[in-house]
Amino acid sequence: MGHKGLKRSCVAVAVALLAMVHVSVSVPFVMFHGISAQCSNDRDANFTQLLTNLSGSPGFCVEIGNGVADSWLMPLTRQAEIACEKVKQMKELSQGYNIVGRSQGNLVARGLIEFCDGGPPIYNYISLAGPHAGISSVPMCGSGLFCKLADDLIKGDIYSDFIQDHLAPSGYLKIPTDMKKYLESSKYLPRLNNEIPNQRNSTYKERFASLHVLWLRICYVDSATVV
Ligand SMILES: *[C@@H]1O[C@H](CO)[C@@H](O)[C@H](O)[C@H]1NC(C)=O
Ligand SMILES: *[C@@H]1O[C@H](CO)[C@@H](O)[C@H](O)[C@H]1NC(C)=O
Ligand SMILES: *[C@@H]1O[C@H](CO)[C@@H](O)[C@H](O)[C@H]1NC(C)=O
Repeated sequence: MGHKGLKRSCVAVAVALLAMVHVSVSVPFVMFHGISAQCSNDRDANFTQLLTNLSGSPGFCVEIGNGVADSWLMPLTRQAEIACEKVKQMKELSQGYNIVGRSQGNLVARGLIEFCDGGPPIYNYISLAGPHAGISSVPMCGSGLFCKLADDLIKGDIYSDFIQDHLAPSGYLKIPTDMKKYLESSKYLPRLNNEIPNQRNSTYKERFASLHVLWLRICYVDSATVV
């Protein structure tokens, strides 16, 4: 199956899940885009619209911060907090909703699912190409004003407080040969994955376990996707 075919079948599976939930009511969904993306880009807007068109469920691409630059520079802890605040304010979601995440957007989605207190109910979660177990190196950001900053940060001590607080992908960087430092100094993934002994929170696990989750690992692997 070629890239196009794979993409099409992934969309079909995602749509089936979105449309399946309640026959009589169409449950809305929110979309969290990946790194180097933003809701106002054609690519992301069309994707949300495509899923809406095919599933018949209203969909909303939820922007965190200012889009592309913040997808690189805002720490994921803060991104998840903003996601939590936003879904609480969207009255369309008050009866419950589904979540679709793309690449890094999945880490925001899971932060929302696990850490958000008092948000509307979540029914289903569809993960497209999510780096849930971490990445072993941060890709270069590329050109653009903020990219110079991001690329400089990538060359530094990735587990330092400063970089953890200013480079989003550092929050799920997991260098297999340096697990000690990862568990001690990474500010996001160890908590999200409940990996730190003595700090495991069963609430996170329960919140996650209450959802229907669909993992689609290899959809939408493209140049803007961190996997
Ligand atoms: C998004 O959709 C618009 C209108 O349907 C189209 O003009 C544009 O080329 C699409 N963009 C992408 C990236 O698919
Ligand atoms: C979604 O449906 C609308 C209305 O039929 C159409 O104009 C639009 O191009 C469709 N968009 C996508 C991405 O399929
Ligand atoms: C676990 O997380 C929940 C939800 O955020 C929080 O209310 C609770 O205090 C936490 N429990 C521990 C032991 O940290």
